[in-house]
Amino acid sequence: MSWYDGFEPIIRYEVPLREHTWFHLGGPARWMAAPRDEAELAALVNRAEGAGVPWRVLGHGANVLVRDEGFPGIVIRLEAPVFGSVEFSTDAAPSPSTLPPNTVRAGAGVDFPKFIRDTLKRGLVGLEALAGVPGTVGGLVRMNAGGKYGEVGQFVRTVRVLDKTRQIADLSREQVGFRYRRTNLDGCIVLGATFELTPGDPAEGLERHKRIWTEKHDNQPAVAQRSAGCIFKNPPGNSAGRLIDQAGLKNTRIGGATISPKHANFIVADDTATAQNVIDLIRLAKDRVHSVAGVMLETEIEIW
Ligand code: EPU
Repeated sequence: MSWYDGFEPIIRYEVPLREHTWFHLGGPARWMAAPRDEAELAALVNRAEGAGVPWRVLGHGANVLVRDEGFPGIVIRLEAPVFGSVEFSTDAAPSPSTLPPNTVRAGAGVDFPKFIRDTLKRGLVGLEALAGVPGTVGGLVRMNAGGKYGEVGQFVRTVRVLDKTRQIADLSREQVGFRYRRTNLDGCIVLGATFELTPGDPAEGLERHKRIWTEKHDNQPAVAQRSAGCIFKNPPGNSAGRLIDQAGLKNTRIGGATISPKHANFIVADDTATAQNVIDLIRLAKDRVHSVAGVMLETEIEIW
């Protein structure tokens, strides 16, 4: 009998994770599973924990670096239809459920860039502030992703989670405790969230979206390049990109990984790169910035 007895229909074995991350690096997951609903997800996590099997939830892999040896546990993907649903409630078309007007409920697996455009087209503005941030609703909420025009947490009303006691709970935004690239959701699995948006003109919203997207595009490596967005969090009152730049590290290369010449808080990988090349470059940037500026950088990406 194996620890995953009964879960065989939703499990795959030795799944290459490089295909599931923006970096396209790293080894396989020992197991990968796509639970069909919340109850199956909860049962699977309980079973894995009972058997001492480590688990992770993977969204679109925009903020994750997988080590070359792979992940020795189970990687869970919330790609079943139930995790991809979106429900709108606008003044013009109120939801028949309990959703207040100008609120949208989205499952954790929903693609965030598409979600932004869909809310704008329905005449709900706000999320365009996050134009160009890749990932899933679950991933963005979990880490309170954002940029210079806002963070996802400022639009969130409630978050549905599988909590640390493995119960399903609806948390208020206060309970989630959104702060710079952090939440209280460590150890929880985000199942979905509701967003409170503002009625507005779709054309103006889409225009602002385009402006913010273009600005990001002009200052950061192209989306097609293999990276994981910003590698480090900004230290309070400072910019990690500027510090790495001032330490003279733009264009520094280890193997197939390079500190971007366009924005020093990005590492880009080419076809020859290994995950270890990126890890070595992260170490180098940390050491150099510490010795030059006396600041200890903290990674924003997750390393599995
Ligand atoms: N700068 C440099 N050299 C560089 C990069 C930046 O001198 O190589 C300077 C810039 O000229 C600017 C300052 O540093 O004066 C800040 O740079 P920027 O405006 O690019 O913003 P950032 O703080 O580096 C943050 C987020 C990004 C987000 C941008 C734009 C973090 C860690 N980064 O970057 O988020 O896209 O603002 O909104 O908070 C991410 O989190 O993955 C991410 C890419």
